[in-house]
Amino acid sequence: MKLKITPTRQEVFLGAEEIIVSKTDMTGRLTYANRVFMRLADFSENELLGKQHNIVRHPDMPRGAFKLLWDTLKQNREFFGFVKNMTANGDYYWVFANVTPDINARGECVGYFSVRRRPGNEAISIIQPIYQEMLAVESRAGAANAPAASVEFLQAKLKSLNTTYERFILSLAQE
Ligand SMILES: Cc1cc2nc3c(=O)[nH]c(=O)nc-3n(C[C@H](O)[C@H](O)[C@H](O)COP(=O)(O)O)c2cc1C
Repeated sequence: MKLKITPTRQEVFLGAEEIIVSKTDMTGRLTYANRVFMRLADFSENELLGKQHNIVRHPDMPRGAFKLLWDTLKQNREFFGFVKNMTANGDYYWVFANVTPDINARGECVGYFSVRRRPGNEAISIIQPIYQEMLAVESRAGAANAPAASVEFLQAKLKSLNTTYERFILSLAQE
């Protein structure tokens, strides 16, 4: 069960040299969290291990962003994205995440890794309004259709900019 946390307007930041690392099973249940993750999100190891990664989910994140993440991972491909996360007391922090399948010696996917660093302010100022538009699309689409509708909206937007999701996100990550 996920406890209900009320979001605050307080932002907390990853240091420029810091990296958050976590590892999950195939369902997104945490099997590892590094110390930077525990410190910034303000959860103890006990509170994190065995919990779903949505323990740090922020309500400002559109569901479509996570649909893209999971659709990409299920194809055994790595995912890049900007994510607004929530700490144990409701504060928020932005990360640029690279999530990769954890492949064993037999070539089978046995879970996932995520490595995140502090994103640039410029990138956040571009991605944040896009997530807000995706959220608006989702609330118009209704719960069942929300993730697909906002992914469709995002893909159409990227197409009009003559780019793809990965090219767009990686270009923002250079900012
Ligand atoms: C390796 C890995 C790392 C993840 N990291 C995050 C994260 O930092 N924040 C987050 O909200 N979801 C993260 N997710 C996605 C969550 O599993 C989940 O899909 C998302 O929080 C949406 O949750 P919901 O379906 O309950 O809304 C991660 C998933 C994986 C596999």
